[in-house]
Amino acid sequence: MNDQLIIFDTTLRDGEQSPGASMTRDEKLRIARQLERMKVNVIEAGFAAASNGDFEAVKAVAEAIRESTVCSLARANENDIRRAGEAIRPAASGRIHTFIATSPIHMEKKLRMTPDQVVEQAVRAIGWAKEYTDDIEFSAEDAGRSEIDFLCRIFEAVIKAGATTINVPDTVGYNVPEQFAETIRRLIERVPGSDKVVWSVHCHNDLGLAVANSLAAVRAGARQVECTVNGLGERAGNASLEEIVMAVRTRKDVFQCDTRVDTTQIVPASKLVSGITGFPVQPNKAIVGANAFAHESGIHQDGVLKHRETYEIMRAEDVGWSTNKLVMGKHSGRNAFRSRLQELGVDIASEEQLNHAFARFKELADKKHEIFDEDLQALMSDESSEPKEYFRLLSSSFHSETGEIPCARVTLAVGGAEAKAESCGSGPVDAAFKAIEVVAKSGTELLLYSVNAITTGTDAQGEVTVRLSKDGRVVNGQGADTDIIVASAKAYLNALNKIQAGAEKMNPQV
Ligand code: KIV
Ligand code: ZN
Repeated sequence: MNDQLIIFDTTLRDGEQSPGASMTRDEKLRIARQLERMKVNVIEAGFAAASNGDFEAVKAVAEAIRESTVCSLARANENDIRRAGEAIRPAASGRIHTFIATSPIHMEKKLRMTPDQVVEQAVRAIGWAKEYTDDIEFSAEDAGRSEIDFLCRIFEAVIKAGATTINVPDTVGYNVPEQFAETIRRLIERVPGSDKVVWSVHCHNDLGLAVANSLAAVRAGARQVECTVNGLGERAGNASLEEIVMAVRTRKDVFQCDTRVDTTQIVPASKLVSGITGFPVQPNKAIVGANAFAHESGIHQDGVLKHRETYEIMRAEDVGWSTNKLVMGKHSGRNAFRSRLQELGVDIASEEQLNHAFARFKELADKKHEIFDEDLQALMSDESSEPKEYFRLLSSSFHSETGEIPCARVTLAVGGAEAKAESCGSGPVDAAFKAIEVVAKSGTELLLYSVNAITTGTDAQGEVTVRLSKDGRVVNGQGADTDIIVASAKAYLNALNKIQAGAEKMNPQV
């Protein structure tokens, strides 16, 4: 049995389908680079036919990534497949992932197609995809509620037509582990040509079983798992990458396979995705939650101190938890700054960007004496946000005193011009947002505001996420600063810039 489990990451496609998690091209590129660093095998970069922005994002990822296969999703129609094929053309290794629904309810009510028409369309789709690449994945959407005989029939047909990976999605998260494993086992046994393809699974988490179902499928012979960082994804999300990877690594005896993932990149990937999407990670989340390795009870602490393995089945450092090391201070030089960024795997686009980031690092070091890895990551994350900002904070002042109404005054750069405004509010953050709105007049609705301390201590930087919606479009903005009102204003402007630049997109499954 093949002992390599292929990790297919769909954070940038299915993950992005979570309401509010939509990402810009640059954000996708940053996540894709981290996924490549983590050595995932396949990166599903998006759904190229969804919008011009999505097409450009998939293409940019295909141009930038060399060590992972870059994939685009496409419905089983000619236009989608040609868009996907064009978008992945620059990839060192490119894949087209085409899908059509196969459950009775989806075929009858959504597609309004007969089973014969669905098989015909799937085979045609593989034919179009073959014009672009030999690496073709076929998914039977809602396979989890499809009839096994029909799945065997359609899979046999697409394998004959040239599909090389067969994906079995539990689209609505309906399956339970033993039953799902049995489906995979029977498909592998019954479908002619099954030994020529990689069997894959894609499980949603509606019943909290996405990881359990995926792992049961691996035990039944699946050799690709589709998953996302932090389990991001439609509704309750997808199987979480970190849980799948660490389960097979920790229990190789059970799964008889392993991945090529560099697990020390897992926590940085989790933080990056959480920061960009504004979806926080719950503290007790396996592997990447802040408490995942914290032993609180005295008995546990005593055991771990005497012999770590009494209560720990994995080591925190193996999944990338750092020990909040003090890395730099105000006397650190430019070269030390550059080399620490390189160790952290942060891309430095140019000397100009390095100089700019270094100047900001010095400013931060003046305010905050101890600079940790997390501070550098936040600083660089700010640094690599969209270059063409329409709104930018030039200066601000806030007044807040017991018994007085808080007020804010802001000076903004607005498309090259300068604008000043002031406003009062129920608190300084509210006043700052209202002052920005005097200038921006965005007509957006604030859906979420959250603040996180990046490191410990009262001098920590605050990292703020703001979620805004306008005309059904939802975007997240982030900002970090030692002054949380400034961080809030930056986050608000970051979200406004995305609204300003935004393009419409569609969901592949709608
Ligand atoms: O959940 C699903 O069925 C999907 C397919 C497009 C693979 O995301
Ligand atoms: Zn899905």
